[in-house]
Amino acid sequence: MTVLAEHKNLSTPITLAMTGASGAVYGLRLLECLLQAQRRVYFLISDAARTVAKMEMGLELPAEVSALEQFLNAHCRAEPGLLTVYSNMDWLAPPASGTGGKIPMVVCPASGGTIAAIASGISANLIQRAADVAIKEKRPLIFVPREMPASALHLENQLKLAQLGATIMPASPGFYQNPQSIDDLVDFVVARILDQLDIAHTLLPRWGSHH
Ligand SMILES: Cc1cc2nc3c(=O)[nH]c(=O)nc-3n(C[C@H](O)[C@H](O)[C@H](O)COP(=O)(O)O)c2cc1C
Repeated sequence: MTVLAEHKNLSTPITLAMTGASGAVYGLRLLECLLQAQRRVYFLISDAARTVAKMEMGLELPAEVSALEQFLNAHCRAEPGLLTVYSNMDWLAPPASGTGGKIPMVVCPASGGTIAAIASGISANLIQRAADVAIKEKRPLIFVPREMPASALHLENQLKLAQLGATIMPASPGFYQNPQSIDDLVDFVVARILDQLDIAHTLLPRWGSHH
């Protein structure tokens, strides 16, 4: 077990949205770590993210929410009851509402399209609406874009969100920990996201702790 289970906080769920940028593995590894840390997760996924998960990981994610919930619980070896999956058109889902406290939200991976829609306040699906609510309620909001090169439009949208208080964390792993595998590179990015969420983990040695 890589995440310290004693760091429990059952009271605050985390909204995790996967969109159709490359790097489905980052979103699913983050989900696994959150669930293993005993955190409740509201899970949202776009249609494009399903396509990417199929292409990159060979995962055929079930379309129906309860089937997807079951699939992800098994995939993440999670305790039942922590994960709730919502349809991307479920306007009645908790993340669509400003009530419920400071629920952090992570968009991982974050497509340029979803970032643009959120930066413009479009709110055309639950992912976009939940982020819109996170911004107005000043909830922690993290984006993990992957695109390269970044156009001025991408940068402008990201700047707009950063100025609204969001945290932009491009999926760009460092190499100073001497990674040995793709899993190590993925864990580097996921560890930095967990750090931002204040969730204890053992995915990476602490800075300065390996000599
Ligand atoms: C395999 C694959 C990789 C993709 N990679 C990216 C990417 O890294 N960044 C990005 O912004 N869009 C990427 N796209 C395109 C998005 O999926 C597309 O713009 C989609 O409309 C995004 O929709 P969503 O934001 O609702 O998920 C990729 C698509 C596919 C099929």
